[in-house]
Amino acid sequence: MSQRIDFIVSPGGRLQGQARVPGDKSISHRAIMLGAIAEGSTRIQGFLEAEDALATLAAFRRMGVRIDGPDRGRVTVHGVGMDGLQAPDGPLYLGNSGTSMRLLCGLLAGQPFDSVLTGDESLSRRPMRRVTEPLERMGAKIDTTPDGTAPLHIHGGRRLHGIHYDMPVASAQVKSALLLAGLYAEGETCVAEPAPTRDHTERMLQGLGYEVRRAGNHICLRGGGRLTAADLDVPADISSAAFFLVGASIAPGSELVLEHVGINPTRTGVIDILRLMGAKIEVYNPRMVGGEPVADLRVVSRPLKGVHIPEKLVPLAIDEFPVLFVAAACAEGETVLTGAAELRVKESDRIQSMADGLRILGIDARPTPDGMIVRGGRIGSGRVLSHGDHRIAMAFSIAALRAEGPIEIEDCANVNTSFPGFADLAARLGLGIEVISHD
Ligand code: S3P
Repeated sequence: MSQRIDFIVSPGGRLQGQARVPGDKSISHRAIMLGAIAEGSTRIQGFLEAEDALATLAAFRRMGVRIDGPDRGRVTVHGVGMDGLQAPDGPLYLGNSGTSMRLLCGLLAGQPFDSVLTGDESLSRRPMRRVTEPLERMGAKIDTTPDGTAPLHIHGGRRLHGIHYDMPVASAQVKSALLLAGLYAEGETCVAEPAPTRDHTERMLQGLGYEVRRAGNHICLRGGGRLTAADLDVPADISSAAFFLVGASIAPGSELVLEHVGINPTRTGVIDILRLMGAKIEVYNPRMVGGEPVADLRVVSRPLKGVHIPEKLVPLAIDEFPVLFVAAACAEGETVLTGAAELRVKESDRIQSMADGLRILGIDARPTPDGMIVRGGRIGSGRVLSHGDHRIAMAFSIAALRAEGPIEIEDCANVNTSFPGFADLAARLGLGIEVISHD
């Protein structure tokens, strides 16, 4: 267990300057996983050196993959080919990382060896049947607890066959798990998504020379191919940039430039939602980097107004709602979110965690089964809980920019799962954040 850390953030201020936030978490995971089973050495730059992505990296080292780094975002993965992974010498501990667990579950379902996946308290509560059930339909054998949670025991030596799967929830993790298992399956694996979700797995597979077919909402591949190593450049994570997009929007007098941000259209819901609320965000210098679109973002403060968030944007902004609720608390009028029940099964129940904290701060936030109604108002002062959830901790830090008194956030060590250096960077850009460590 890491040391307990709290944040104390003084009220007011504005954000100014220029920054590059750390690398994209989703892409960093995939770069390790696909690099590991490719032929040749994959050189990655911009890798996210945070606990979640490092958990994936450590897991592949335990399966015999030689990995150099990370050193200032540079990692070289010496791929072992599709059939080169070795049995780990014990359970693979994946910390807080749902992406590691769900994607690995798919990748390991087709290996000749058994493996066991474990995680921290939060990860051990999260639903895993959404991946184990379709994988079992492909011929895998995976034991969960009676509640369908980790530890997961994945039996090796199973012959997998491709399936056509209609995903009941719009989940990139489920889609990716099935596609990774599909690499090892006989015949074609097709996943149909009810709404577009992040497509980094598909893009990276194609970048490493694997054919992936997309027809409408179906994504298909045939098993038995191979991957060829390539250089990968991980853009800055739009999910981390989101804290500053909201911060600079709500704090009068702010102006920020965020560099080299991934703007894959399956991830830019936060920009669309903020613009609907009246934010001024410019996207410029668009370019393609390693198969992913990247740009610089310039954001200037603007008064925001409440909106009914279009449901089609929900999967495209799924990780950004904690901080979008803060934007809603600073907006004039009511913001209504529906169709977002998935938020209840993230690192914490993000609907409840945010509603509880916002109410402590004096905001009228009414949770609903699949979303929240937030009435913009005056943010007071108080002590809120992160519920061990990185994005809740960062969201409430940003809320202080418009608070009337200090906001104390308890239990913020988990910020290191996705955004190491958040407090330092936020302080450099103008947030009055202090980190308190308890031994
Ligand atoms: C992720 C997909 C999303 C997201 C998570 C990362 C990924 O989860 O919330 O932070 O890298 O595939 P779901 O696919 O379960 O929505």
